[in-house]
Amino acid sequence: MPTRLLIDTDPGVDDALAILMAHAHADVAGLTIAAGNVGLVHTVGNALKLLELIDAPTPVFPGCAAPLVRAADDAAFVHGADGFGDTGYLPAARRAADEHAALAIVRLARVHEGALTLVAMAPLTNLALALKLDPALPQRVARLVIMGGAVTGRGNTGRVAAEFNIAFDPEAAHVVFSAWPRFTLVDWELTTRHGIAFATMARWLAADDPRARFFAALSRKTRAWTEARGRPRLLVADALAMAVALAPEIVQGAETRHVAVELDGALSRGATVVDWDGRLGRPANAEIVTAVDQVRFEALVAAALGAG
Ligand code: RIB
Ligand code: CA
Repeated sequence: MPTRLLIDTDPGVDDALAILMAHAHADVAGLTIAAGNVGLVHTVGNALKLLELIDAPTPVFPGCAAPLVRAADDAAFVHGADGFGDTGYLPAARRAADEHAALAIVRLARVHEGALTLVAMAPLTNLALALKLDPALPQRVARLVIMGGAVTGRGNTGRVAAEFNIAFDPEAAHVVFSAWPRFTLVDWELTTRHGIAFATMARWLAADDPRARFFAALSRKTRAWTEARGRPRLLVADALAMAVALAPEIVQGAETRHVAVELDGALSRGATVVDWDGRLGRPANAEIVTAVDQVRFEALVAAALGAG
């Protein structure tokens, strides 16, 4: 397991599961918060509440409240208006740090030079700004794992080829994909192949553990919405990306290719375009994960809920 994580996140139901996994299995240097699933006020408040629940001293750094260039729609219809299932939880007593997320990423990458695994499971606005502040960031970070994209065009947004994190801020994703020599990509299509059975999740959420109880409440709307849409399993993209970050050995298949982001297409803005046949002759920037060990993935999730 990696010793230290820095997590960029827009909590969000699946983000919450990933954050619980990170704290169950690794040391977390900080949470940098993005807008995305819902607005920044909610994503910051959700992060603070989750950390209070597990009594983790992890600092929370608020980031950008909007994408770099164009406004984007949130995903409150999936996660609830507050991003955590509208449970009306009592806000955390603790406060976020005064330092901006982008500055925190730059600073912590220097403090923990060569030791950080950076997990980006939100729109990439904060990371793009950090890269502009410190172009040497990729050389300071041991590994970058990104949850984002749809590598053969089967996305999850109104622009059907685009996945939410990339589609929310395509310019930020372009900055990151262009500047980072090699990152690990956990995309939406992989997520759809590694869902969790509802009965399995229900069994985990029955565990006598405050994490299971809190996640049961905050995920209730999302689980009901997912089942109502006829999806056979619960899709938890960020938990899958976190599992790959925590335990690289669970990866059972990967393809290293060049991936770029479409910025202008009327139908395709936000799509991740993979040069599968190497036609462009550009260096491969992405290790595209194509399969993981489902049993090991689920074991990491269950343990984070106190159900393992
Ligand atoms: O497309 C899935 C991604 O978008 C996940 O990170 C989820 O939390 C949402 O932000
Ligand atoms: Ca997310």
